[in-house]
Amino acid sequence: MTFELINKVDFKTTNRTSWEVNSKFILESSFNQKNISNFLKTKICQIKQDKQEIVKLLDVGCGNGWLKDIIPNDLVYQGIDNCTNFVSSLNNTKGNHFLELDIEVNQHNQKLEALKSNIVVCCLSLIEMSYLDIVFKNLYELTSKNGYLIIVSLNPLIELYRVSENQKDYKNLISNYKKAKNHLVISKKINIGEKKSTLDYYRILYSFEDYFDQASNVGFTLEEFKEDINEVREPKSPMYEYIMFKKE
Ligand SMILES: C[S@@+](CC[C@H](N)C(=O)[O-])C[C@H]1O[C@@H](n2cnc3c(N)ncnc32)[C@H](O)[C@@H]1O
Repeated sequence: MTFELINKVDFKTTNRTSWEVNSKFILESSFNQKNISNFLKTKICQIKQDKQEIVKLLDVGCGNGWLKDIIPNDLVYQGIDNCTNFVSSLNNTKGNHFLELDIEVNQHNQKLEALKSNIVVCCLSLIEMSYLDIVFKNLYELTSKNGYLIIVSLNPLIELYRVSENQKDYKNLISNYKKAKNHLVISKKINIGEKKSTLDYYRILYSFEDYFDQASNVGFTLEEFKEDINEVREPKSPMYEYIMFKKE
C-alpha cells in the first residue's frame, strides 16, 4: 500500500508500535542484510585503515545490531534505536552496546557529546523518520570533526516498481509520486524466506536530493554516492544506495 505522509505524529506512533511487534519477528530470524553487509564491511575497513584516528562507530536505528558483527575489532561500537524491545534484547545477547534513543527529537548536547563518533551509520533507518530536519541536526552533533556520516537507503522508483502489480499500476504510482505534495510512504509486511511479519513496516520514499539538502543545510559535505550496491539484483529486488558525507 502507498500513502502520502501527511500526519507526521501519527506516522511516528504507528511505526514505533509496528517495531515493538516486528522486532520479535526479526530477532527470532537469522536476518542479516546480506546484500549490504559485504559492501559496508569493505568500506568501513578501508576508512579505518586509511585513518588510524578513527576509533568509534555509532549505528543509528541499529535494529537487530548485525552491523556490530562485521566491523573491525578495534572500532568501538555503539548502537542506538528507539525500539525498546530491540535495545533490551540486544543488551542481553550481544553485550551492553545498545542504548534506547529517539534521534527524531532534540537531544541534550551532553548526551550527543557522549555518543559522538568518527563514523555514524544510518543503514535503512532514515527511511522511517519523518522529522529529517531534527535528525540531521542531531547527526551533525553526533559526528566528530573529520568524521563520516554513512547512509544506506532505498531507491524510491525501484520501491514503487517492486510494489506495482503491472505496468499500468506502476505508471499510476510514478505519477502519484511526482504529483504528491508530501513524501509517499510504502507499507508492507516483512518477508523472511517463507515467513511474513504480522504487522506492516513503513518506508518513506526519500530521494538522494532529500538527504543531500538536509546534510548540506547542517554543514556536511558530500564525499561519495553509489547508486546500486547490491552484488546481484533481480529486477524486483530493492536497489540499495550508499551516500557518504564528511564533517570538515
Ligand atoms: C528498517 S530497520 C533497519 C535496522 C538496521 N539498521 C538494519 O540495517 O537492519 C529501521 C530501524 O530504525 C529504528 N528507528 C526508527 N525510527 C527511529 C528513531 N526516531 N530513532 C531511533 N531509531 C529509530 C527502528 O526501530 C528500526 O530498528
